[in-house]
Order: sequence, then C-alpha cells, then structure tokens
Amino acid sequence: MKIAIMGAMREEIDPILEVVGSHTRTEHAGNTFYECRYGNHELVIAYSKIGKVFSAITASVMCERFGAEVLLFSGVAGAISKDLKIGDLLMASALCQHDVDITAFGHPFGFIPEGSVMVESDVQLRSLAAEVAVDMGIDLFEGIIATGDQFVASAERKAWIEATFHADALEMEGGSVACVCQNFGIPFFILRAISDSADGDAGIDFDTFLASSAQVSAKFILEMVQRLGR
Ligand code: ADE
Repeated sequence: MKIAIMGAMREEIDPILEVVGSHTRTEHAGNTFYECRYGNHELVIAYSKIGKVFSAITASVMCERFGAEVLLFSGVAGAISKDLKIGDLLMASALCQHDVDITAFGHPFGFIPEGSVMVESDVQLRSLAAEVAVDMGIDLFEGIIATGDQFVASAERKAWIEATFHADALEMEGGSVACVCQNFGIPFFILRAISDSADGDAGIDFDTFLASSAQVSAKFILEMVQRLGR
C-alpha cells in the first residue's frame, strides 16, 4: 500500500524519517517529498509548512502525483478540552475550519457552499488506532479538531471555537487536509499530540513542547503503519 505521512513542520516528520532509514528525495511544488519502503508498504513523507494553503498543496500532491492510497497526519495541537494535557494524543473524529465566515449570507460558521462544516475522518483508521493505543498502553483521546490560519493564544478565541464547533483541540492544517482527502476519495487519519493550551502561554509552551509532543505522535503513527493492511 502507498501511504502518505505528512506533518506541517520539520519537527513533525523528522522523528519519522529517522526511523524509516534510507529514502529518496523529490522536490516538487515547493516541497521535498521523501520516499522509502517500510515493512510491506511504500511511504511518501513530507512536511507542508504551516497553514491551510500549504497543507492543502502538499496533501493534493501526495494524492495526485505520488498516488497515496491513505494519508496519515502526525503533529501537534493546542488543547481546548480541559481533559487534554501536554503530551496527550488526540485523533480527530471530524475536522472543521474555524476561520471560515460567510455568516453574512445566513450560513453557519465554518460552512462553505457545496461542502459541510465537519469532515469526518476514516472510521477504520480510527479503530486501528484504538487497537494500537490499547497495545501500547496509551490513553488515546478522540474528538473534533478545529483548524484555522491562526496560532491561537487567547482564552477568548479558544472559548469561542469550543462553543461554536464543540472542538476539543485546534491547529492549522487538519481541516484543509481533511477537505483535500475527502475530495480525492482518500481515507485519512489526523493525529495530534498536545503542545499547549491555546491560551496566553501558548507561544512559550509550543516552543518548549513542540519536539517532544511531535515525537509522541510520530511514534504512534509508525506503529499504525506497521499494522495497516494486516
Ligand atoms: N498548533 C499547536 N498549538 C497551536 C495553537 N495554539 N494554535 C494553532 N495551532 C497550534
């Protein structure tokens, strides 16, 4: 199976590249794509750069040019739910775009005509992840992830996103990647380890915990890869 593994930042895919060993590099559309064989699978790995636009480009290229049959996203997120602490793992059940606003035309926040506010992730990949979590002895959370082109470091904005979308965590790429995969008909899975609480301390916490939380997420994703298609 051809599996795409993507992150937004170098720190999110470096732990994966270290484990998979030797790989080829292809430059395309402003990104570097790393390919290798890992177990029974072909992998294409890349980080997109931050935000919805760059992540949509990378996910599209992975589907269209590299023939990804499934896409796994590994990275970090800001917590909204009080149950989530730094280092905890959350898989997205569904994703939305918290910064989409055409409410002036009577639509709900996050809605784009001919689309939907929420895009659901693949149910089978989620149940595989639940099995992996049990075997690894990890408490894996599941919930809604809200995406937007904003680093949220404000209790007010966070409260608004929670109230509007019932989101458990927020980040800057999952919603756009979900949209791309839905349109290409590719099953996808978005995993995030918590790096901060999206409040006044978010910037400092993010810098402190980016690498360690990214590592937690990457390790889990690699375990999923090994079990895919078994
Ligand atoms: N990714 C990790 N933490 C974040 C935050 N506070 N806002 C947006 N994206 C994030």
